[in-house]
Amino acid sequence: MTIRAVVRGVGHYLPERVVPNAWFEERVDTTDEWIVTRTGIERRHFAAENEATSDLAVKAAEAALKDAGIGAEGVDAIIVATSTPDFTFPSVATMVQGRLGLTHGFAFDMQAVCAGFVYALANANALIVSGQAGRVLVIGAETFSRILDFEDRGTCVLFGDGAGAVVLEADEAAGTTSDRGILATDLHSDGRHRELLYVDGGVSTTGTSGRLRMQGNAVFRHAVEKLANTAHTALDKAGLSGADVDWIVPHQANLRIITATAQRMQVPMEKVVVTVQDHGNTSAASIPLALSVGKERGQIKTGDLIVTEAIGGGLAWGSVVLRW
Ligand code: ACO
Repeated sequence: MTIRAVVRGVGHYLPERVVPNAWFEERVDTTDEWIVTRTGIERRHFAAENEATSDLAVKAAEAALKDAGIGAEGVDAIIVATSTPDFTFPSVATMVQGRLGLTHGFAFDMQAVCAGFVYALANANALIVSGQAGRVLVIGAETFSRILDFEDRGTCVLFGDGAGAVVLEADEAAGTTSDRGILATDLHSDGRHRELLYVDGGVSTTGTSGRLRMQGNAVFRHAVEKLANTAHTALDKAGLSGADVDWIVPHQANLRIITATAQRMQVPMEKVVVTVQDHGNTSAASIPLALSVGKERGQIKTGDLIVTEAIGGGLAWGSVVLRW
């Protein structure tokens, strides 16, 4: 018998305010046409002034718990993937724990920027298969609108706010590729590429939260190559190939990156869950958001083989292969 971490529930939350591309036309030298053609993004959600990352995270968590049919007391651990926490500390995860009324277990944040949810899934899987937790609530939640420079047309049009969550549960399985649950994980980082994508402020440097800076072109080139490679590696580790994949659920940064990665993996776009047009790049929230929306649309079904992959600041990247 093998212990697998199986997804029992999924949910998401998007702030009410929808910001169309036209909103940026009034602020920077850009057009709806440029944004749609170069990125695939049509609109994104921005959190309200009084809405923080933990507010988004709690709502996504409640939706995932409802979908799983369990109360918050049934959870042993909470991991929140975020680069935009409410405060320097405490962690968003412990704030969520408190708001859900949980008094047992443990909670912590994971910071791997856009790869944060993949990192969080891999770590939750490790907690479950090693017997340290039976059920883990894994949340990706971001308010990237708070770290955007609204005078930089190369970055401000790309990002949005939102949250998604899954409930992972330990399950006994046969130890084959037909098992439900996480079948393989693959994580990487390379700190030499810090200058390609970073925030120019922080607690121990400027004492401010800073603003996002990016060399889009260079990130683009790294993304396509590294995402296809990590997805292949994770499939290899699982003993599977691109032909076995039912859905790629990629980090939603740019439709051109998503398409080029699917091409390299030889998986047709009909098997790719795409939400970037409606959400923009929500960093660590984008994969759980896409999982939740993909399930709602009737795309993702029990037994489907899913590959998630993401890359972000660091650079940090990785992928997870799981059977839904
Ligand atoms: N509107 C109009 N023109 C623009 C805009 C805009 N919003 N932004 C940039 N441009 C201009 C540039 O100034 C440049 O003009 P120039 O030739 O006069 O200098 C021109 O468009 C081309 O710029 P490029 O950067 O070469 O354009 P590119 O086709 O690479 O598209 C983009 C830019 C969309 C940022 C793309 O590089 C990209 O998506 N990169 C990946 C970024 C990404 O996904 N980051 C996130 C991954 S990690 C994470 O999620 C945190």
